[in-house]
Amino acid sequence: MCGIVGILGKDAVADNLVEALRRLEYRGYDSAGVATLEQGHLAVCRAEGKLKNLTHKLLRQPLSGRSGIGHTRWATHGKPTERNAHPHVTPRVAVVHNGIIENFRELKAELEAEGACFLSDTDTEVVGQLVDREIVRGKDPVAAVEAVLPRLKGAFALAFLFEGEDDLMIAARRGSPLAIGYGAGEMFLGSDAIALGPFTDLVAYLEEGDWAVITRTGAEIHDESGAVVVRPAQKVPPGTLLVDKGNHRHFMAKEIYEQPEVIAHTFGHYLDLTRETVTLPDLPFDLAEIDHISITACGTALFAGSIAEYWFERFARLPVSTDIASEFRYRDTPLGKNGITIVISQSGETADTLASLRYARECGQKTVAVVNVPTSTIAREADMVLPTLAGPEIGVASTKAFTCQLATLACLAVHTGRVRGVLSEDDEHRLVRAMMEVPRLMTEALKLSPEIEALARTLSKARDVLYLGRGTNYPLALEGALKLKEISYIHAEGYAAGELKHGPIALIDETMPVVVIAPFDRIFEKTVSNMEEVAARGGRIILVTDQRGADLAHVEAMQKLILPEMPATVTPMVYALPVQLIAYHTAVLMGTDVDQPRNLAKSVTVE
Ligand code: F6R
Repeated sequence: MCGIVGILGKDAVADNLVEALRRLEYRGYDSAGVATLEQGHLAVCRAEGKLKNLTHKLLRQPLSGRSGIGHTRWATHGKPTERNAHPHVTPRVAVVHNGIIENFRELKAELEAEGACFLSDTDTEVVGQLVDREIVRGKDPVAAVEAVLPRLKGAFALAFLFEGEDDLMIAARRGSPLAIGYGAGEMFLGSDAIALGPFTDLVAYLEEGDWAVITRTGAEIHDESGAVVVRPAQKVPPGTLLVDKGNHRHFMAKEIYEQPEVIAHTFGHYLDLTRETVTLPDLPFDLAEIDHISITACGTALFAGSIAEYWFERFARLPVSTDIASEFRYRDTPLGKNGITIVISQSGETADTLASLRYARECGQKTVAVVNVPTSTIAREADMVLPTLAGPEIGVASTKAFTCQLATLACLAVHTGRVRGVLSEDDEHRLVRAMMEVPRLMTEALKLSPEIEALARTLSKARDVLYLGRGTNYPLALEGALKLKEISYIHAEGYAAGELKHGPIALIDETMPVVVIAPFDRIFEKTVSNMEEVAARGGRIILVTDQRGADLAHVEAMQKLILPEMPATVTPMVYALPVQLIAYHTAVLMGTDVDQPRNLAKSVTVE
């Protein structure tokens, strides 16, 4: 995952920038760089690979400037080479960037039409060039950045340094976190407060849409509308900057809010955003030759697998069976020689999932592990590892690992469909474009948080809650019910909406909230019929949908949570966020231990 740091210091900052980047190393990266102002002029030093390569280069070409920005890059647009490493520097601007600029292609075409030349394959360089153009047109750096930000589509964080401006750094947050550190006559910036640990314990967090003009005397923070706002600096207790909660009350909230950023990194790993293709590492088997996929996992990871089942069937026309790992391992499941087994696990240590992996190997199957901890036992024992790159997940209830599992599995399903000739090149481009939009769509989805917090007041009084969905939103309904149960201790059930009338409808009365996850899609009408069945029996519907769905569902709903419209493939990733927030806000109101709910462990290494 990319990391951003910035320092307006009293002395040379290059070493401290590297030190701050070192604290972000745990997030993973494949190149790094710093830019400083040397007697007013922008100078840059970048290196492929680990920070030690950058340090060696800095020994040969020392930088002595007192102002600088730095970056560790996880390649998204363009290979992890030195020329694609950040910072990207124009004659007037240096920029570092986390996330994805979705509309970089059209912005690049616009700049190229005016004669601009690009030195890298990144989307980031477009931002630097746009700001540079505004300065050439006569704007000062602050006005230039202010003019460019509204033109950028996507979820991202940015930091800028300017030629000739020794006391200025500008930062902007849209979907990717940024923290400002306050020192005495010095200021700091980090994409994670952990980076600022050695320098200051006074930290303010930018809110969504904020941008900040930072000088050595402080920071003027603006919200998305441009209005000056106050984001109070908080004292961070010493030692807590190792794994911190940021400005969130719980790790779970932090992890929910990190999703636009971490999913961008996961997609960055598996997509070539320039060519709009999926790029997977070499697989130890030929996807064109397999005739069956078995997916096995536990809990939330299992629901990610159940969603992926729909994708593999649709995109690759392959039969898939998805199993609870604790059942799979004892069922003597016949596994044909031409099948593969995919195991999914955040921790990579879950006992039943590991045993299932071993069983599949004994049966002669090739195995793929979708894991978040790359050093785990499951990762070590599988034939092939697809890391989920969600970063450390501390909250016991899985959130960001789930959506990153979905991202990884979606990439694998699309790739399988291509290899098997089911999907055309155009299909692949279309699906990749849809995936690229997910970080931004997630950022939009998070804006529902205040509405969901209000709704949680009603939910926290319920004894039971039903979740309904069809297609990929059926496993998401199961996940919604699991999330609510495990952190709020309210009894909840997930059902396929069409299954309601075969039993669970007996539960419906006016005390029963029913969360219906139903984006407008080809089976929306069917879900509306199921909602009517609930409404007719007094059930209180909470409809999670888009505007078209909200307009067409002529059913009395207690509340409608409206998300942006999006392609059907990506709905489970984006709709997961309101589902997680429903559980989170309800649990907070109930006063439970959100991060460590009773009886639960993060890594279940027993049967
Ligand atoms: C639910 C949750 C659990 C895990 C399950 C598997 O929020 O976190 O259901 O998903 O215990 O754990 P991993 O993914 O580590 O194998």
